[in-house]
Amino acid sequence: MEVVIVPDAESGGELIARGIADLLRRKPDALLGVATGSTPLPVYEALAAFVRAGEADTSMARIAQLDEYVGLPAGHPESYHSVLLREVVEPLGLRPDAFLGPDGTASDVPAACAAYDAALAEAGGVDLQLLGIGTDGHIGFNEPCSSLASRTRIKTLTHQTRADNARFFGGDIAQVPQHVITQGIGTILEARHLVLIATGKGKSEAVAATVEGPVAAVCPASALQLHPHVTVVVDEEAASGLRLAGYFRHAYANKPAWQGL
Ligand code: F6R
Repeated sequence: MEVVIVPDAESGGELIARGIADLLRRKPDALLGVATGSTPLPVYEALAAFVRAGEADTSMARIAQLDEYVGLPAGHPESYHSVLLREVVEPLGLRPDAFLGPDGTASDVPAACAAYDAALAEAGGVDLQLLGIGTDGHIGFNEPCSSLASRTRIKTLTHQTRADNARFFGGDIAQVPQHVITQGIGTILEARHLVLIATGKGKSEAVAATVEGPVAAVCPASALQLHPHVTVVVDEEAASGLRLAGYFRHAYANKPAWQGL
């Protein structure tokens, strides 16, 4: 696992956006797995700026949702479908048919989950999966003690996650759905490259457990240790619990230029 410590969220966003732009040069129709929430926004903003400046070409790119609330109609402003249309599809000028996601309104939820895993496989698999991390160590919405082999399925959100996300629902936790469809940890680990971004002091414990703790379902993100190509991008605050921060800085400063993100 590579850990890159950046001065702030903006430089983290720019670093990852550059990596995505490079990927799109190699593979113009790459399938990008996209997370929602606040942390990935600097990535999407930097990538949109590269597109405007002619430094990235997203015209053939495809995106795949990581998770979706159960029961929110797709047109609800806080469904992740709507959020990604606003924050990714429109600013990057993606084709609307280049957007894969699970159906959070399906009457048969297990069938919708299986259909999503099948759609990801049929699309050739995710090339680069961008991940945020919950304060409890969740990735996607694989809450603590999710199976490390899990596939896309329904999960019940923890009280902490619903409290964290209440800010998107006018501060009213009662409006945050109890359930989500999320790619499973096994599904996420099938992406060719995993890029996790974490910023702020509130994420420091989860980041330390992810990078330096044992692989354990109690910290779902620790499963990233099992993947051969993971990049963890953290700002100074999110890195503040890392014992090996000095080594990570040294390794990044001496990284061979040909390695890329
Ligand atoms: C959402 C998702 C979640 C978030 C996590 C952090 O699609 O995958 O795992 O990444 O809850 O959210 P923020 O970035 O808002 O702190």
